Amino acid sequence: MTPRTRPLLLVTIDGPAGAGKTTVSRLLAQRLGYRYVDTGALYRAVALAAMDRQVGAADDEGLDRLCQGIHLALTVTDRGLRLILDGADVTDRLRGREVTAMASAVSARLPVRRFLLTLQRALGEARGAVFEGRDMGTVVFPDADVKFFLDAAVEERARRRHAELAEAGRPPLATVIEEIRQRDRNDSSRQLAPLKPAADAVRIDATDLTPDGVVERMLAHIDVLT
Ligand code: DC
Repeated sequence: MTPRTRPLLLVTIDGPAGAGKTTVSRLLAQRLGYRYVDTGALYRAVALAAMDRQVGAADDEGLDRLCQGIHLALTVTDRGLRLILDGADVTDRLRGREVTAMASAVSARLPVRRFLLTLQRALGEARGAVFEGRDMGTVVFPDADVKFFLDAAVEERARRRHAELAEAGRPPLATVIEEIRQRDRNDSSRQLAPLKPAADAVRIDATDLTPDGVVERMLAHIDVLT
């Protein structure tokens, strides 16, 4: 019997902060032999550029000019996925709490979303990719082949984030819970592309699952669907 050749799929994974999207997306892409695209890193890079150039989070004209003038690229190296901003690898600067808060703020602004919408769609043209974000299945790729919405209880998401932060200067868990709640509110209540499951998304609650457990469920869905 000849093995079934699968078409190259576009898979999207949306969900709130700390649900495990990054780990799961990376693992799933590996299992499928696909590219993995972390769209949050693109928002973070725009936030970093705005901070470096002192453009305010509510300055739409400034943000528009900034977006017109920057060049963002995602490249895979032996150190994993790297974000290149105007030729410089800024990956290691993207995860701080300040950049995180600024990314949440600039991601609500039209010029930023418009700029990244075009960029993300261009990155998706080749298919054979797992895209992770907030509006992948709803706005950026409404025609994606397989859509997942990954969620987990807020306390569990905060516990995971807390464990990831360097011990030096780590805020108390209660602060991280409040920061995640605030980010959930920002991401879900904004007018433009708010975080919500696509009507045709498969919803997975990761509260009691390991990343591998989540990936197995996803692969089972993909098997059923293709
Ligand atoms: O996934 P993350 O934490 O790296 O995302 C950083 C911020 O970017 C987050 O506050 C929401 C925003 N974001 C978005 O609005 N749309 C996306 N597709 C990805 C991220």
